Amino acid sequence: MRGRLLMPGDKSISHRAALLGALADGGRVRVENFSPSADCASTLACLRQLGVSVMHRAAAVEITGAGLRLPRPPATPLDCGNSGTTLRLLAGVLAGQNFTSTLTGDDSLRARPMRRVIEPLTRMGAHVEAHDGRAPLVIKGQRPLAPISYTPPVASAQVKSCVLLAGLNADGRTAVVEQTPTRDHTERLLRWLGVEVETTETADGAHVVSLAAPARLAARDCVVPGDLSAAAFFLVAAALLPDSDLTLAGVGLNPTRAQLVATLRALGADVQVADVREQTNEPAGDLRVRGSLRPAAAGANVLGGPLIAALIDELPILCVLGTQLEGGLTIRDAGELRVKETDRIRAMAANLRALGAEVEEYEDGLSVNGPVALRGARLDAHGDHRIAMASAVAALVAAGDSEIVGADCVAVSFPDFFALLEAALER
Ligand code: S3P
Repeated sequence: MRGRLLMPGDKSISHRAALLGALADGGRVRVENFSPSADCASTLACLRQLGVSVMHRAAAVEITGAGLRLPRPPATPLDCGNSGTTLRLLAGVLAGQNFTSTLTGDDSLRARPMRRVIEPLTRMGAHVEAHDGRAPLVIKGQRPLAPISYTPPVASAQVKSCVLLAGLNADGRTAVVEQTPTRDHTERLLRWLGVEVETTETADGAHVVSLAAPARLAARDCVVPGDLSAAAFFLVAAALLPDSDLTLAGVGLNPTRAQLVATLRALGADVQVADVREQTNEPAGDLRVRGSLRPAAAGANVLGGPLIAALIDELPILCVLGTQLEGGLTIRDAGELRVKETDRIRAMAANLRALGAEVEEYEDGLSVNGPVALRGARLDAHGDHRIAMASAVAALVAAGDSEIVGADCVAVSFPDFFALLEAALER
């Protein structure tokens, strides 16, 4: 793989730029390099249904901020598609509106756990109806909400963000206490828009994030960096294909996610970072990866503990890398993978076994053996974009042809994935 590629705009940051832009006070917010993902399109569609003016031109989105009170109740249920971030973050916004709204999504999203947001929002005074803790969620908003200090039972940036967004419509200071820090894009963007977000550490090492309301969000333009989680597929593919020399320009390197780079290096990949700059309160830089693997550092072949939250979306592609490592790779403490767009532990185990790897599955992770000569096979995307892309990289490494059933679901985060992969591959 050779050349210089631009990754799509970061999906996590794009969702937040759209949602916070909609809550800004009376002004237009232009978001450059907005993610082309179907997930972020779901967020924009929901905002339009709530009466927010959204213009989408090429890679830029212009949102007219409506302030903390959204213009109108949705006439029909808000369809979040496949997007957990849309549903969980929007739930926090809707909890503080003086109307009732319904949030729903596709079969995958309606099977995912929502008690993690229902519980804090109910404690803040919203009324949320759900069947068996799953979407559809009917949210009867309350103004103002009661401020709380909340310790989520799982390490989740979506839950943290949901509570902080609800906190914008509370009367007092809302806090989230995290034992394991998660991605902090919401905090960074809130600060960019002029909201004071406080972060402190307790004596026992917990991270406390809080904000005081009523707050006012300023309308201020944003530039979204390239998506590191999309880049991960190219980083691993290029590391595994000999003679590769690939540069991914302008990729987000937020420290709560950039441990991917350190992890790849510890596993023996040659990844260099250059030209780091700050954009909209987020660091971004160029990543250069070459096709060679050194032996992994001692102990690097086991991933677990707090690192898992930082690598959560990259674990499927790291399993693929694991099949080519001396000593393979073991992932533990990653039970959350079972409740993503699909059960990612089961899906990766099935696809890697089909390609000839030995995989042991645990409730909270898996072990893959390595190095193993993979053979082409018929694989299943399981309706999950990251499984489709990880499987495509595994198929590139495998001898012979593979077929990935349902691979078009890559559009959920990265519609141009296959086009860019082809462009980077030297024939
Ligand atoms: C995201 C947080 C993570 C991640 C997801 C995006 C976000 O989910 O897996 O792809 O944008 O906040 P959890 O908060 O459920 O861990």
